[in-house]
Amino acid sequence: MEELKRIAVLTSGGDSPGMNAAIRAVVKTGLYYGMEVYGVYRGYHGMVNDLIQPLGREDVKYSLPLGGTILKSARSKEFMTYEGRKKAYENLKKHEIDALIVIGGDGTFAGAKTFMNEFDFPVIGLPGTIDNDLYGTDYTIGYDTAVNTVVSAVDKLRDTAYSHDMLFIVEVMGRDAGFIALRSGLASGSGKILIPETKTCTEELLDRLRERISRDETSAIIIVSEGDDFGGAMEVKKIVNEKFPDYNTRVTILGHIQRGGSPSAFDRILASGLGYQAVKGLTEGRSGVMVGSVNRKIVFVPFEKSIKHHNKINVELKNIAEILSM
Ligand code: F6P
Repeated sequence: MEELKRIAVLTSGGDSPGMNAAIRAVVKTGLYYGMEVYGVYRGYHGMVNDLIQPLGREDVKYSLPLGGTILKSARSKEFMTYEGRKKAYENLKKHEIDALIVIGGDGTFAGAKTFMNEFDFPVIGLPGTIDNDLYGTDYTIGYDTAVNTVVSAVDKLRDTAYSHDMLFIVEVMGRDAGFIALRSGLASGSGKILIPETKTCTEELLDRLRERISRDETSAIIIVSEGDDFGGAMEVKKIVNEKFPDYNTRVTILGHIQRGGSPSAFDRILASGLGYQAVKGLTEGRSGVMVGSVNRKIVFVPFEKSIKHHNKINVELKNIAEILSM
């Protein structure tokens, strides 16, 4: 591979805390290697529409503790077409960009894979999503912060749950994956965790509540992943109300609050390390891979693997959470 003079970075898909730390790492590492670094604003939309500008140290100053993404994120219908991708390629060429780093989830990597195959353009991916559902990394950038956000919210809800003998059904994000629910459920001592990866048994859930009521424990927290087969927190409330009409039941949907906020120290460190490795990987001639961290070792996983496979949840954590909350 020829020497890289100019690289570009973009964020795509749902924002996640730590994306800015990753951008900062890419910019600073690129400059360290003597490259020029460009930012593509608004993800693939910006690549198609030439929203491409140089990024320097000043641009990433004070960005480490910021949530969201200074490069913004967007969906692009145009990039899904060959014509759109061709325009994107021409824009990168116009700015004499030699390689690209994309920060996002599996949709981002799927777009990157098609693009790099069509135009023989080097691309490396960084796992940026709160969902933690990408194969090839133990943690994605933003997941730890999102879990902490949920835990602090549940801690607050617990005060009211206890004071008023209430049952709170808390819905957390995770369209296809229960990682946020699982870890935040365990960390917040929640009585029941419902996730898409395991079939939710209504009887089991009701038995659990029955058993609590028999012990005169009328305050409780149930965490439901938005992608659970049950259909979300409102559905759970319906069933609970039918069976236990006297139970004081409330639903809290945490929503996009989980995507924002200053990244945790863990996410800042992860994003900084992965951002550095992405640039280093490009200098070593790597392309078509996502940089991940597995067992605290840096790994480069081909896009097709990180897209096709899903990270497996540790079901034991669910059992532990349930036993410990009894
Ligand atoms: O992919 C991250 C995620 O936070 C999912 O957990 C959630 O379902 C989704 O984004 C929501 O995305 P949108 O903002 O497009 O509705």
